[in-house]
Amino acid sequence: MRKKVTVVGAGNVGASCALWLAAKEIADIVVVDIVEGVPQGKGLDLLQSGPVEGFDCQITGANDYAPTENSDVVVITAGFPRKPGMSRDDLLMANYDIVKNATEQVAKHSPNAILIIVTNPLDAMCWTAKHVSGFPRNRVIGMAGILDTARYRTFLATELGVSVESIQALVLGGHGDTMVPLIRLTSVSGIPLTELLPKERIDAIVDRTRNGGAEIVKYLKTGSAYYAPAASAIEMVESILKDKKKVLPCAAYLEGEYGYNGLFVGVPVKLGASGIEKIYEVQLTSEEKAMLDKSAAAVQDLITVIQQKTAN
Ligand code: NAI
Ligand code: 2OP
Repeated sequence: MRKKVTVVGAGNVGASCALWLAAKEIADIVVVDIVEGVPQGKGLDLLQSGPVEGFDCQITGANDYAPTENSDVVVITAGFPRKPGMSRDDLLMANYDIVKNATEQVAKHSPNAILIIVTNPLDAMCWTAKHVSGFPRNRVIGMAGILDTARYRTFLATELGVSVESIQALVLGGHGDTMVPLIRLTSVSGIPLTELLPKERIDAIVDRTRNGGAEIVKYLKTGSAYYAPAASAIEMVESILKDKKKVLPCAAYLEGEYGYNGLFVGVPVKLGASGIEKIYEVQLTSEEKAMLDKSAAAVQDLITVIQQKTAN
């Protein structure tokens, strides 16, 4: 029997997730959205591309969670995207309500599912999903690091005129302007990046990476990026469903690792059939650790706002 993946939110990211999933033919897909007709229509449209693309999975659109029953993985993309001039954090309380509601439904209908959170502000929405579901930390994972790293790798590959596949890199920290691209560990097939590019070019690319989401919002004007975010979320789903055990930068709930407790922070993890199977603690320089501390503090500030606004 095929595995089952639910995508909550049939907007730009959700629909693109369904598309990547169908193309990879790794699961039957249920897409849920509050807008009547949209998940059904997009689901049917995607299903009809099966004969052309050669995939046979089932694709169902719904406005309720009954068809999602016993999903293996649930990707939560429901929520408002950024508009020009808006930070991810402006989205906080509006998306808190949406993610809380979606997580309650998912936990009820698929109590053994692995949750992949995409909705922004990412690290705070992961905390919300973990808190509301009560799921263990291996089953609540945030997508951001793969996207941020993909942007960094793209810019480097373009600058160096080499394949994106030849760039090995890692971006840690929260999904925000304080993310931490690890220049020291970036290489081109093992050749240290610092031997290939001058510091000012590397710094410019790091800066562009940190603002990679905003750059696309500025172009689109009415929303944010979705092709690369969806591809990144589906790389996580694939590693889990195929038990590939890829080591990927994801937002994980830390319990002492890197000196943080009770916070989601982007770190390298091994993703396999049980979700997060290992969290890797990279030895950081004092400068890198200071940047990670700043990033973790920004995540903590959002959690504090949620706790204050939802107290009583
Ligand atoms: P979108 O506006 O295209 O789609 C959002 C969808 O969520 C809409 O179809 C809406 O009807 C639906 N929705 C709203 N409330 C819902 C509910 N209670 N239940 C089910 N569906 C509901 O937005 P887009 O571009 O798909 O982005 C979605 C979220 O993903 C945003 O918060 C965005 O900031 C975030 N995002 C995060 C990234 C990351 O790296 N973590 C990257 C890209 C986007
Ligand atoms: C991005 O980085 C909006 O978080 C989203 O594109």
